[in-house]
Amino acid sequence: DSVAAILVAAGRGERAGRSIEGPKQYRSIGGRAVLAHTLAAFRSHPRIDDIVIVIHADDTELCERALGPNIAGAFLVTGGAERQISVRCGLEFLATARPTPRIVLIHDAVRPFIDHETIDRVIVAAEDFGGAIPAMPIADTIKRASSDATIAETVPRRGLFGAQTPQGFHFEGIRDAHEKAARSGRSDFTDDASIAEWAGTTVMLVEGAVGNVKLTTRQDIAAADRTLKERQA
Ligand code: C5P
Repeated sequence: DSVAAILVAAGRGERAGRSIEGPKQYRSIGGRAVLAHTLAAFRSHPRIDDIVIVIHADDTELCERALGPNIAGAFLVTGGAERQISVRCGLEFLATARPTPRIVLIHDAVRPFIDHETIDRVIVAAEDFGGAIPAMPIADTIKRASSDATIAETVPRRGLFGAQTPQGFHFEGIRDAHEKAARSGRSDFTDDASIAEWAGTTVMLVEGAVGNVKLTTRQDIAAADRTLKERQA
């Protein structure tokens, strides 16, 4: 069965601060762009047939420069102002493909350390159950804050997981769920699993990876760069 991957890379990356290299997915870590690492991980996976990269309308040149000749064969699609909209742009692009994929993996371009084993676990569970996400148990004790920064509540940690990507789904199911969410004016979903859950799809948790971090801040990018350079040394 065919598997497509959507790499969402249309964010402005404001939390990582401004840089001449542009948003964080285009910053260089270990000698190449974050997005180039992410693309390579999916490109080299034997089960992935098509890769769609969703980018900001202003970033075409930045993306071409970041990927160089590796851009060949990937489909570039323009995204929107919210992650949820960017994902939908990727899904609508795939809906025009013939044949449409059976499974779609939706991945944050800013998680460049995704490994093949995690991708495999997501594909297998998504095929069997309709939806699957990689997740890791929460290690910290979780507090809910009051508006004055005092602790309102300690949330029992048992059964709590941090959601990673790629999140995998039957293509038609997640496409319908996104369309329904857009029609009902909902734009507050923070990942694709929450849209699938809201639409009634069963979503399985599979084991994520400690290394599959989301590069969010300037410090995250600097740390990733150091790690890769140490590995190369
Ligand atoms: O901003 P956040 O860290 O949640 O972004 C997660 C991923 O979603 C990033 O890879 C970012 O480029 C992408 N994104 C997008 N379109 C947006 C906002 C975020 O493709 N409008």
